Amino acid sequence: GAVLRAALLFGCIPLSSCSGVQSALDPAGPEAANVATLFYVMLVGGSLIWIGVVGVLAYASRLGREPHSERMAGWVILLCGAVGPAVILGALLSYAVWLMPNLRPWTSSGEPGLRQIEVTGEQFWWRARYLDPSGAPLFEAANEIVMPVGERVLFTLKSPDVIHSFWIPSLGGKMDAIPGRINAVTLEASKAGLYRGACAEFCGPSHALMAFTVKAVEPAAFEEWLDERAAVDRPSDAEGLAVFLRHGCGACHTIAGTQANGEIGPNLTAVGARETIAAGTLPNTTEAIARFIRNPEEIKPGVHMPAFDMLPDGDVEMIAAYLKGLK
Ligand code: CUA
Repeated sequence: GAVLRAALLFGCIPLSSCSGVQSALDPAGPEAANVATLFYVMLVGGSLIWIGVVGVLAYASRLGREPHSERMAGWVILLCGAVGPAVILGALLSYAVWLMPNLRPWTSSGEPGLRQIEVTGEQFWWRARYLDPSGAPLFEAANEIVMPVGERVLFTLKSPDVIHSFWIPSLGGKMDAIPGRINAVTLEASKAGLYRGACAEFCGPSHALMAFTVKAVEPAAFEEWLDERAAVDRPSDAEGLAVFLRHGCGACHTIAGTQANGEIGPNLTAVGARETIAAGTLPNTTEAIARFIRNPEEIKPGVHMPAFDMLPDGDVEMIAAYLKGLK
C-alpha cells in the first residue's frame, strides 16, 4: 500500500508535464516527435539498466547470509552488472546516433522557398522579422510567432546583447541566439494550435519572463494574416495615438502607419491582437498594459523600459486603451 502510494505520488510529478502548450512530450511537429521518441526509448533503456543493477544489488546483499555458488555469483554480477548495461547503452547510443540527423534539422544557407522568420533574442523579449522566401523583409512583430501548418519554417536567430536560446518544446529542439553570429533552425508544426516558447539560456534577471506565443494556423489563414499585417493603413484612435506620441513612446516603439518608428523596443503595430504582453508574462488586458507602462521594473526586473508613473492622470489609461485597440 505505502509503496504503491509513493509510486503514484512520484509518478504524478513527471506525468503532469506530459501535456500542454509547452511540453516536449506532447509533440506537434516531426522534429519534436523525434525528441519525444528518443526520450521514451532512453527511459525504457535506462529503466532496464536500473532494474538489472538493483537486482544484482539485492542478490549480492543476500550472498553473505546464505550458502551460494561463487561461480554463479560471478556470472550474475558479470551479466547484470557489466554485459547487460554495456549492451543496452550500446544500443541506445547507436539509436541516438542514427536519429541525430533528424534531430538537427537546421540549415545554414537557407533552402530556396522556405518561409523565413528572423528572430532576435533581446533582454527580455523576442523580435520577429517576417521575410518573404527570397529573404526580403515584410514587417516586424514581437513576442508572438505566427506560422503555417505543414510547412517547414526557417528561423534565423540573432542576439544584440547576451546569449539567449530559442525553444518551442512542442515543435522541436532549441537553438541558441548568440551575439555576433547567426544560427538557424527549421521547425514544422503538423497541427494547428497555440504553443508556448521560452528562452532556454539564462540571460539576466528576467530570463524566466522571456516567453512567447506560437500560433500555427492553416496556410490560407497564414497568407491572410501576412497581408493583414503588411497593410500599413489601419483604423486608429487618433486621440490615443496623440497621447502616445506626446510622451515620446515612439522613440522606442514602432507602430506601422504612424510617426512612431523607434527600433529599440518591441514593435507594437498589432499589440492588441497578441495573447499576452511583456513576452508571455501578463494577459493582454488594458489594465495589464497600464500596469506595465507605469512600472515595468515591478513586472520584469532588469527591463530596459523606464517607468512612466509620472504621466498626468488618465494618460496611461489612454495609451493602454489605444494599444489594446491596435489589432
Ligand atoms: Cu533570454 Cu534567457
